Amino acid sequence: MSKKRNIVVIGTSKMAQLHMEGVRKAANLYGICDNSPEQLAAAHALFPDAKTCADYRDYVNDPAVDAAVIVTPDYYHLEMTAAFLRAGKDVLCEKPMALTDGECREMMAVERETGRKLMIGQICRCTPGFMAAHDLVTAGRIGELYFVESEYAHNYDHAKGYNNWRVDPRRHAFIGGGCHAVDLLRWVAGDPEEVFAYSNHKCLPDWPVDDCTVALLKFPGGVTGKVFASIGCKRNYTMRSVFYGTRGTVICDNTSDHITLFEDDPQGGKPPFTEGQILPVDVNNHNATAEIEAFVKALNEEGEMPVSSYEGAATVAVCCAAMESSKTGLPVRVRYPEKHA
Ligand SMILES: NC(=O)c1ccc[n+]([C@@H]2O[C@H](COP(=O)([O-])OP(=O)(O)OC[C@H]3O[C@@H](n4cnc5c(N)ncnc54)[C@H](O)[C@@H]3O)[C@@H](O)[C@H]2O)c1
Repeated sequence: MSKKRNIVVIGTSKMAQLHMEGVRKAANLYGICDNSPEQLAAAHALFPDAKTCADYRDYVNDPAVDAAVIVTPDYYHLEMTAAFLRAGKDVLCEKPMALTDGECREMMAVERETGRKLMIGQICRCTPGFMAAHDLVTAGRIGELYFVESEYAHNYDHAKGYNNWRVDPRRHAFIGGGCHAVDLLRWVAGDPEEVFAYSNHKCLPDWPVDDCTVALLKFPGGVTGKVFASIGCKRNYTMRSVFYGTRGTVICDNTSDHITLFEDDPQGGKPPFTEGQILPVDVNNHNATAEIEAFVKALNEEGEMPVSSYEGAATVAVCCAAMESSKTGLPVRVRYPEKHA
């Protein structure tokens, strides 16, 4: 395709506006959509050249639209993604891919049937600190991994009022927020076979779901892992994550301007490990521009999606296994979807 792709963004929140900015840089921001007139007008003031509509189906039926970015409440992801794919358009859908692993499988089935492309917006894979840490691990700088941990520490007290779609018994905090930490660990350590989890409900008593979950994960090769996800914690938002290897350790997060690397002395000396190396990184915990650029590049080159539908669905499958475990008190084997042939 030589002309710039016409991409529409569905949903116009602050998060969606970061996607609009990314689309404007990497492609043509053809249109924006929101069923709230106030939200739509506010976003249109920032992106006045884009068309507007209140019903996303106007873009589904518009032959000029090449692709859609879905940034609406999670319970719309299946419906909207399927509609665009069936209309012959490619889709970048926000995380979590959907509310259940069954819905994720349906989305994968539609992708398979239509032959269109679906990417999931697991933003940690575009976060500078996590990318730097991932590079160090895959380059072997910390030796063989043996333990990985990540946390999603957030306070959703603000998520009331117009944001109240988050307060929904179908949206467990471990899917909505914990999926970030689960996806990060899967990116670094692979698909965990089994999960064991405990949850409690002490910080947001008026929410319909547990607000804190701790999950232990059994990764391939005997690597162990832990995810802590809390949506009511009284502290600043962060995703502190630590990757432990036989020759070193990386400490990273999505809100600091550096990561810390501890490593064995390659000369065989014995470093005291009291101070790590501080490696500077950009702070950008919603790097939607990098995500959109990767999506458009993969479409242009007809390559694999950088975060495929399998990746999004596998992350939800792990989250669902953790929720099941916290209810039953038993370890749960993760039921992964089939990868596309
Ligand atoms: N990657 C990240 O770090 C990140 C951060 C925030 C949100 N998200 C995800 O993005 C999605 C949206 O979250 P948000 O924070 O933007 O929510 P939000 O509530 O701030 O905004 C949602 C917008 O969608 C609009 N909307 C609702 N139903 C619609 C419909 N049927 N048609 C058109 N517009 C509709 C609402 O009016 C609102 O403007 C969710 O899936 C969420 O999990 C991801």
